[in-house]
Amino acid sequence: MSFTRIDRPFSAVVLAAVSIGLVAARPFAEGPPSGHSGGFGEPTCAACHFGGVENPVDGLFHVVGLPEAALPDSTYLLEIVLKFPAMKRSGFQLTSRTEDGLQAGSFAPTDDRTAIDRDGVQYLVQTEAGSMPAERGSMRWTVRWTAPAAPGTVQFHGAANAANGDDLPIGDTVMARGWTVDVRAR
Ligand code: HEC
Repeated sequence: MSFTRIDRPFSAVVLAAVSIGLVAARPFAEGPPSGHSGGFGEPTCAACHFGGVENPVDGLFHVVGLPEAALPDSTYLLEIVLKFPAMKRSGFQLTSRTEDGLQAGSFAPTDDRTAIDRDGVQYLVQTEAGSMPAERGSMRWTVRWTAPAAPGTVQFHGAANAANGDDLPIGDTVMARGWTVDVRAR
């Protein structure tokens, strides 16, 4: 009889603690805030993450599979590669825009390791599941990108965070780069 009286306040406290934890953890390790790609005047992850050298010589941030010239409406499998010896946890943000800063083509995640935030344009980001490197110092994410229907130049901008895994924005290494793809009619 007295169990209900004790149980109810207890589970309310547990639920409150769990939901506060989820709300606080959501924006950061599980997907960085949009608008930090480094392109079109946007800052990079370095707005909050610091302590390491930016774009270090022993770091690598690259998108494998981007064609120099893409066919309109064609889909490409891209691999976002991030390497840094001390990296224990990591993330990135990637955009594809026209020269006027509008969305160019579209991203489609291939698994639960990336997700899309829409904020004017698509911001492709890592999820929490996609923030743990399989092997220390090396990270890969795959995504499909479909080229726009109209020919033109596409600007890709990416910013990445090779973090030290301390759940704090200090002691992290940020890399940022841009790539250009020409979409040419068949
Ligand atoms: C507005 C501030 C802010 C910006 C901008 C930001 N972050 Fe973060 N990030 C944080 C904070 C605060 C934490 C630590 C708390 C947490 O993990 O929730 C964090 C944690 C992380 C972690 C986990 C790190 C660790 O050591 O455990 C990753 C990975 C990450 N961010 C990736 C990124 C990437 C990639 C970008 C840029 C595209 C970015 N963040 C931009 C504030 C920011």
